Amino acid sequence: MEDTIYGLKRTHKCAQLGIENVGEKVTVMGWAQKRRDLGGVIFVDLRDISGILQIVFNNEYNEEIFKKAESIRNEYVLAVEGEVVKRSEDTVNPKIKTGEIEIAVREIRILSQSETPPVYIEQDTEVNEATRLKYRYLDLRRPDMQKNLILRHNVAKIVRDYFDGNGFLELETPMLTKSTPEGARDYLVPSRVHPGKFYALPQSPQLFKQLLMVSGYDRYFQLVKCFRDEDLRADRQPEFTQIDLEMSFVDVDDVLSVNEGLIKTIFNEILGIELDTPFRRITYMEAMSRYGSDKPDTRFGLELVNVSDIVEKSGFKVFAQAVKNGGSVRAINAKGCGKSFSRREIDGLADFVKIYGAKGMAWILVDENELKSPITKFFTEVEMDSLLKRLDAEPGDLLCFIADKNSVVFDSLGNLRLELARKLDLIGNNKFDILWVTEFPLLEYSEDEKRWVAKHHPFTSPMDEDIQYIGDDPGRVRAKAYDIIINGVEIGGGSIRIHRKDLQAKMFELLGFSDEQAWERFGFLLEAFKYGTPPHGGFAYGFDRLIMLLAGKSSIRDVIAFPKVQNASCPMTGAPDIVESKQLKELHIKTIE
Ligand code: AMO
Ligand code: AMP
Repeated sequence: MEDTIYGLKRTHKCAQLGIENVGEKVTVMGWAQKRRDLGGVIFVDLRDISGILQIVFNNEYNEEIFKKAESIRNEYVLAVEGEVVKRSEDTVNPKIKTGEIEIAVREIRILSQSETPPVYIEQDTEVNEATRLKYRYLDLRRPDMQKNLILRHNVAKIVRDYFDGNGFLELETPMLTKSTPEGARDYLVPSRVHPGKFYALPQSPQLFKQLLMVSGYDRYFQLVKCFRDEDLRADRQPEFTQIDLEMSFVDVDDVLSVNEGLIKTIFNEILGIELDTPFRRITYMEAMSRYGSDKPDTRFGLELVNVSDIVEKSGFKVFAQAVKNGGSVRAINAKGCGKSFSRREIDGLADFVKIYGAKGMAWILVDENELKSPITKFFTEVEMDSLLKRLDAEPGDLLCFIADKNSVVFDSLGNLRLELARKLDLIGNNKFDILWVTEFPLLEYSEDEKRWVAKHHPFTSPMDEDIQYIGDDPGRVRAKAYDIIINGVEIGGGSIRIHRKDLQAKMFELLGFSDEQAWERFGFLLEAFKYGTPPHGGFAYGFDRLIMLLAGKSSIRDVIAFPKVQNASCPMTGAPDIVESKQLKELHIKTIE
């Protein structure tokens, strides 16, 4: 006997039907989204993964079926058989795909009932996120969420096809592995068999993909879960997905061009946008000095301007001192804001930059006839003229200055730039701004740890021409490292790796690992490097971030089926949760209150 559900078998998905099916007998199944009872006629919007279809029950056709229709409530699951009918002109609904037709119901089965759902399942409803995530399975019924997850699937498929077509193999790497430092804190998994020992969940497959290159697999990729115990934000989850790749016998340009091909393909197939390649490249130094950020949003101007040389000998101690101490004074000309911003708004900006460590924000408001500012008194006419000229100041402008050590100047002005762009509505939403940031510094001095730390990770290769500075001037060494930035979001990053054992050992030494520590932590990699290592390099995308961008969302939670909230918990399952003491005992774990 043919497989049926209570005698009915689905012939179509809801939104597969259209004007061309008029007259056909069809069976559709789905959820009742809305029921309108017009006395004698009942309309139900039936929803499945494909979309919405109007079904109609008429009392005159069959009273028993009509009675059942009267009992339908929101989110009941229905199977209906009926005839596809053309709607009259005045009842056509141009908003939905199936708006020209409806189903005149001849048979119905109520497959399951539903209590009144705690979240509305309609497009564009604004429910608070905590409730949405508690009832995520309902939230995921919303067409908007379905669209995001379908997009995610489609992009994953394009990714797999693209890499397959370019000679990459999708290979899996372990989830239970050894803790190796790569920036964030690890999630640890206790071992039952080895009391007191722990696996770590991978922060990325970094070392394993390098080992696959040592093993001769040439080109590897993987869509892979990564785990990092870090403070969460809209674009950060404790578990997230990477598109991870690694290639042998390549240098920077090879890796960038494979990735440009991927992004071009995705944008073309998903958004119908034809991107020009190669993408724009700017160095880390240029990104910092022009935008105050290593992930600059270059869809708008408001660039940073260095005025250190003009003010270093001025009477304004705050400025002169900052330059003398090796820092700088930089400014942004907020064009036209002098006219539109109130004094309170300017004070608001000064408060805003404090979040980023700035001690204050000096400003000059350029009026038609005068300069309004708390700091003009400190400058000579010559200095002031040079400042105004350098900043291209015109009547109506507001000039904002920060003086500090460079890291604070960049961070505060970089963020002020974004804040001003938001306030002035300078960021068009329909533009995509894609660029590479290259030549990152290899190392960064950590004031906390009082030592050099890897800016990317300890396996990143220095640029050939900078290797000479490693011993004497580590801060000057640039790396073969690159990030891809789309609309000011770091979508991915990678590097050419060190493939020589001696250079890798030197790097560990620089990072303050003793020989012993390096062997204890990365011995397997160093050992592997003894046996013939091809030059190699790779890349990893934040897959969730890429999908977020393509979907036009501002949080990756909107493109992950079951995400965690800010404090890394899951409102639906209640994870993390306590476990039975028996389980803890087996794992040799005592909890301290
Ligand atoms: P990186 O640490 O830069 O590089 O990670 C690659 C990309 O992953 C995304 N990402 C995240 N997305 C969501 N939530 C998070 N918590 C999170 N952390 C990172 C970012 C980032 O650009 N092994 C190297 C890559 C390589 O060198 O090949 C790595 O993991 O978009
Ligand atoms: P003061 O002389 O301390 O009142 O400062 C004069 C102006 O300089 C005020 O508008 C302060 O906000 C600003 N200011 C103070 N410190 C800094 C700094 N590090 N960078 C830029 N402006 C500052």
